[in-house]
Amino acid sequence: MKYGFFDDQRCEYVITTPETPLPWINYLGCKDFFTLISNTCGGYSFYKDAKLLRLTRYRYNNVPYDNNGQYFYIKDGSSIWNPGWQPSQTRLDSYECRHGLGYSRFTGSLNQAKAEVLTFVPLNDTCQVTSLTLTNESGETKNLSLFSYVEWCLWNADDDMKNFQRNLSTGELEIEGSTIYHKTEYRERRNHYALYSVNTPVDGFDTSRDAFLGTYGSPAAPVVVKEGKASNSEAHGWSPIASHQINVSLAPGESRSYIFVLGYVENEEEEKWEAPGIINKTKAHQLLSRYQSDEAVEKAFTELTDYWQELLSGYQVSSDCEEVNRMVNIWNQYQCMVTFNMSRSASYYESGIGRGMGFRDSCQDLLGFVHLIPERARERILDIASAQFGDGSTYHQYQPLTKKGNADIGGGFNDDPLWLIAGTSAYIKETGDTSILSEVVTFDDGGEGTLFEHLTRSFEFTVTHKGPHGLPLIGRADWNDCLNLNCFSAQPGESFQTFGPSEGPVAESVFIGGMFVKYGEEYAQLAELQGLTDIAESARREVSSMYDTLLDAGWDGDWFLRAYDAYSQKVGSSECEEGQIFIEPQGFCVLAGVGIKEGKAQRALDSVKERLDTKYGIMLLQPAFSRYHLELGEITSYPPGYKENAGIFCHNNPWISIAEAVIGRGERAFEVYRKTCPAFLQDISEIHRTEPYCYSQMIAGRDAATHGEAKNSWLTGTAAWTFVNISQYILGIQPSLTGLCIDPCVPGDFGDFTITRRFRGAVYHIEVKNPNHLEKGVSSLLVDGEKVDGNVVPFVEGKKEYHVTAVMG
Ligand code: BGC
Ligand code: NOJ
Repeated sequence: MKYGFFDDQRCEYVITTPETPLPWINYLGCKDFFTLISNTCGGYSFYKDAKLLRLTRYRYNNVPYDNNGQYFYIKDGSSIWNPGWQPSQTRLDSYECRHGLGYSRFTGSLNQAKAEVLTFVPLNDTCQVTSLTLTNESGETKNLSLFSYVEWCLWNADDDMKNFQRNLSTGELEIEGSTIYHKTEYRERRNHYALYSVNTPVDGFDTSRDAFLGTYGSPAAPVVVKEGKASNSEAHGWSPIASHQINVSLAPGESRSYIFVLGYVENEEEEKWEAPGIINKTKAHQLLSRYQSDEAVEKAFTELTDYWQELLSGYQVSSDCEEVNRMVNIWNQYQCMVTFNMSRSASYYESGIGRGMGFRDSCQDLLGFVHLIPERARERILDIASAQFGDGSTYHQYQPLTKKGNADIGGGFNDDPLWLIAGTSAYIKETGDTSILSEVVTFDDGGEGTLFEHLTRSFEFTVTHKGPHGLPLIGRADWNDCLNLNCFSAQPGESFQTFGPSEGPVAESVFIGGMFVKYGEEYAQLAELQGLTDIAESARREVSSMYDTLLDAGWDGDWFLRAYDAYSQKVGSSECEEGQIFIEPQGFCVLAGVGIKEGKAQRALDSVKERLDTKYGIMLLQPAFSRYHLELGEITSYPPGYKENAGIFCHNNPWISIAEAVIGRGERAFEVYRKTCPAFLQDISEIHRTEPYCYSQMIAGRDAATHGEAKNSWLTGTAAWTFVNISQYILGIQPSLTGLCIDPCVPGDFGDFTITRRFRGAVYHIEVKNPNHLEKGVSSLLVDGEKVDGNVVPFVEGKKEYHVTAVMG
């Protein structure tokens, strides 16, 4: 069942009923000011850091779900309604939500009154602008009252939901005409405040939630709205809000529009005090002056849509497959931007409080983002590198505002260091900018080194941390955070998050071995690029020895083993009772090329198909763990079929698809791609439940009661990896150190396709022809009419346009 449709022309997903299976959300904001907004206008806003600078309050885990946001109430006689349906839930005569790139539009109507809402975060301001237009579609004059509503969060979202004895006394506001300032904490050491304003004189306001809702009232029917009269309340502590009342009389056919601005302002230290307790509003006034007219809003909105058009123009495909086109051209790239900005911090399932930027997560996010804004990728790589320790190991997370490693979580995840090579190598392949390798970056525990030195320490960390079988030590966990093989002495209920990093050092990971082969080779290439041939050679010797170890101690007979636990027992072997085969090493070893010439790679992928495949995607392992195993850790704490315990963990499905493409099986690569791709799933939204325009972290596996149900949408490495898969492996346009490589791997009946790709300042117009319906192989490459050997388009400095024709054969 569908709850909407794609409007590809406008790059929008159009939701036609507010009652979607879960809130279907969008992200507003590209850089510092962000708002999450659902299809019923729920959500929250923050500046830079969802934990420390939270502007508006949201209650997760609530009933009814999703009932706090930036709401507008319309009172028309005795009826009260919201353009986005929530929170009054008054049935509307018409409803539509259009989630677009960095903006959302809502249109609701009741009794011939219509409200159109357009909301977005302008490119270069720290605010969210909302234009609301009311239209009288009836034949008679309508007298309407419009009420706005946001509830402030007291900045630190963690403290906000815990420390009530303090918080209920700290809230402070100030009212100046139509602007309500939220200045809690300004009196102490903070220099920031928030505001909510409208560009018209108001007929009243409220800043006390209790006064607005009524002491025992609810957002569904605020007493002030019911009575049609704002109480001009001034909050002193408790729960501060901002609400404006605007009365309007509309003649038949008449429209009126209003501009609301929710803003964040930061003063310099010296601008702080106007008088004790009074904020300096100069910057607020300047900000508001920029959004006073419809024309100004229109201009800022056009700038935003132009910005997105320009960004996305860097990779555009035109194929016979509508779903591929819309995911590649619009939604997958859009989600890559969101994961780049948010890492795993703030969504409807990530509270924005618990997790900052993940080390491995952010490195992987770069893989799908680097072509969009390479300069920001560069900056990010250097930030991430500074969360590395001198011995090559890393903090697992860092806080976006402070850019400091998160000491509560610590380090000890032994895959983390290698992801830094992955991100850096992708950046250099994309841009050719090797200067980044000479940037000097500090180590978190003292000292500094060039970025290349950081990569060397990443590489060496694996070399010097091997276990009894010669495989990399896993530490607290590898990519699979829940595979806690050294936690054998943990108490029930303790996971890696509560258990220290240093215990039980001998468990080994085959997965990290696969990573080492892939990124060890990329490290060698970066060394070579700088003329460091000795380093490259010795790195390759290490890689080659790991390759052999993987095929020996890492091989189970029909697939790659997953690991050895702390007792040197096999994990992910046919000898195990449960958890006999895991997806991760099959994907990563094969995509790294391990076992292809020996025929083992094909066997491993066949085993995946045979044992892990379902109609909704590939499960992480089989058979699911039916009971808790102390020696395996958190992975066995999940009920069978969920999350890492045999769920369909979307993130590693593209690894299998890429691995299939690497060995040339285009039909299967595409089948794997298609199964978890949201655009193909919109017809089963009642089963899938999350947004049909973005990936979720997980889909319940075959063992689950809710097989096919997705969870945790938006913030997942799936976004970057599926973009890498479809853009580089299936459609086959791969940035490489020497130029753009054309190496598609598609189903025989995929048809011809064209791609426009921006690469190192030039535009490539690429045509791929497949007259013989093959799955892989390029037999001829024409660049601007000239035949070129091989399948790499040589890069010519200064050249701005390339016309490329690749014929598969
Ligand atoms: C989840 C993992 C996640 C980890 C991060 C675990 O509970 O199962 O998917 O990576 O938490 O904190
Ligand atoms: C989600 C985490 O963000 C990621 O770092 C991890 O690799 C996966 N879960 C798998 O456990």
